[in-house]
Amino acid sequence: SLVDKTLLPRYHFRPPINWINGNFYRYFKYFLLKKNTCAGPFYYKGIYHLFYQYNPYGSVWGNIVWGHSVSTDLINWYALDPAIYPSKPFDIYGCWSGSATVLPDGKPVILYTGIVDNFKTQVQNIAFPANLSDPLLREWDKPDYNPVISSDPSINATQFRDPTTAWLHPDNKHWSIAIGGIREVGQRGVAILYRSKDFVNWTKAKHPLHSSKGTGMWECPDFFPVAVGGREGRDTSATGRGVKHVLKVSLDRTRFEYYTLGTYYPALDRYLPDQALVDGSDGLRYDYGNFYASKTFFDPAKRRRVLTGWANESDTIADDVSKGWSGIILVPRELWLDENGRQLLQWPVEEFDRLRSQHVSLANQVVNPGGFFRVNNIDAVQADVEVTFEMGSLEKAEDFDPSYVGDAQAYCARHAADVKGGVGPFGLYVLADAAHEERTAVFFKVFKHKRKHVVLFCHDPTRSTKRENIYKPTFAGFVDVDIDSSKTISLRSLIDHSVVESFGAGGKTCITSRVYPSLAIGRDAHLFVFNNGAVDVKVSELNAWEIRTPFMNKEI
Ligand code: FRU
Repeated sequence: SLVDKTLLPRYHFRPPINWINGNFYRYFKYFLLKKNTCAGPFYYKGIYHLFYQYNPYGSVWGNIVWGHSVSTDLINWYALDPAIYPSKPFDIYGCWSGSATVLPDGKPVILYTGIVDNFKTQVQNIAFPANLSDPLLREWDKPDYNPVISSDPSINATQFRDPTTAWLHPDNKHWSIAIGGIREVGQRGVAILYRSKDFVNWTKAKHPLHSSKGTGMWECPDFFPVAVGGREGRDTSATGRGVKHVLKVSLDRTRFEYYTLGTYYPALDRYLPDQALVDGSDGLRYDYGNFYASKTFFDPAKRRRVLTGWANESDTIADDVSKGWSGIILVPRELWLDENGRQLLQWPVEEFDRLRSQHVSLANQVVNPGGFFRVNNIDAVQADVEVTFEMGSLEKAEDFDPSYVGDAQAYCARHAADVKGGVGPFGLYVLADAAHEERTAVFFKVFKHKRKHVVLFCHDPTRSTKRENIYKPTFAGFVDVDIDSSKTISLRSLIDHSVVESFGAGGKTCITSRVYPSLAIGRDAHLFVFNNGAVDVKVSELNAWEIRTPFMNKEI
């Protein structure tokens, strides 16, 4: 069938799919969620607005408009007509990413990148809600004085895009935004800084907000404060002692993102990352898997910062065309600073838990070396699993190969789920058929390193499908936990037909994969716990729930 229903994610955000039935033919309207939310979300009068880069005409990239959906809970979504679409000389070749800012008087405004010619020349435009009394903000006005920012000779005009949400300076007078760019010399990624007093007239600052050598182009920069201590979010303009700042960038060249934590100096309009962190491609990531072009926003209703990221498909483009759908937005995550101050933590927004239904639970189950068991009595194709593992002793942990410091992914590819280890690999087989010939392994492995132990967290999809020509990369990250004293580690995985989103150690290390089982589909998809290490591992607790299907872009 044109729509491969069995693999279509059900609770992850995707654009509407419309069937139009004619007398003689059936016309299928494709959707291609080409890109993400890097077109930024926001909250206005009780409603969350999500925008995404969308091709309304087919599953080839192009004709990019701002798809628009609304929700009251970030889980059930209603589709509206595109909010911004090419119609004027300043965006006629495409309406690319950008951000919304909610002004102090409560009015939202959007800054976005317009494409003005065939060479992909980029400018920045402004758009206002046409009718503020419409709570759905369906129509957006693009004044004729656009563009509000054009490149200058110091800027590569085809690599100049994705304005951030603006932040207001402590003087309450001027706004700043950053725009992604590149300085060719040294392949330096740059967050170009602009300032304005009225949001319409913007002046380039003499220096960028920040830049870093060797990363290539910075797409979708995101710059925001997080509270020091506690989980509560901060408004994007918050500064001062109680906050640290985060700068996240998306790297076009490698299709992954990294972030730094640091200090923002409002008087200088400069950001300095913490010394101890890597400011480059090997830096910290929100997610070590298929996760790109993400964006956060401050949710004033629940005083939290929410992160949305995009995952593309990892089967072939021909498959995307025949499936007729492509690209999803991951479950929105709350994001805050770890109490150790060294990294961010993430967790699915609490509203997600309302989709939990059929529940199974078990405790104190020991899994021997080479052992495994199946978690029965739930439909595991669309599920949420939380599990805690306890290791008796770390003595048998293998030595860490120091040449892999900083390269978890390569290490994990070598230490795949089938490779017998010391302490681990142990974890879950998700989207597995009954014989687990097909399965995606989500696992931990502990190594001895300099008299202490390090924990590696992996997704190994190499056996996720019998189908051929599917891209099945292993993804991995280290987990910054004191395993020597706790000897315990937790895992949560969200499973949705062709999506696996995992949160290691309470959201310290997150990994997302797209997988395309051929056997482990529908009721034939199961969940197992496995241990391929040389020592026992105890499942001290496991809870799994089936997840109901929310309204997914019902048309209103
Ligand atoms: C991110 C991105 C942005 C751009 C948009 C175009 O994936 O490339 O830099 O604005 O997508 O769709």
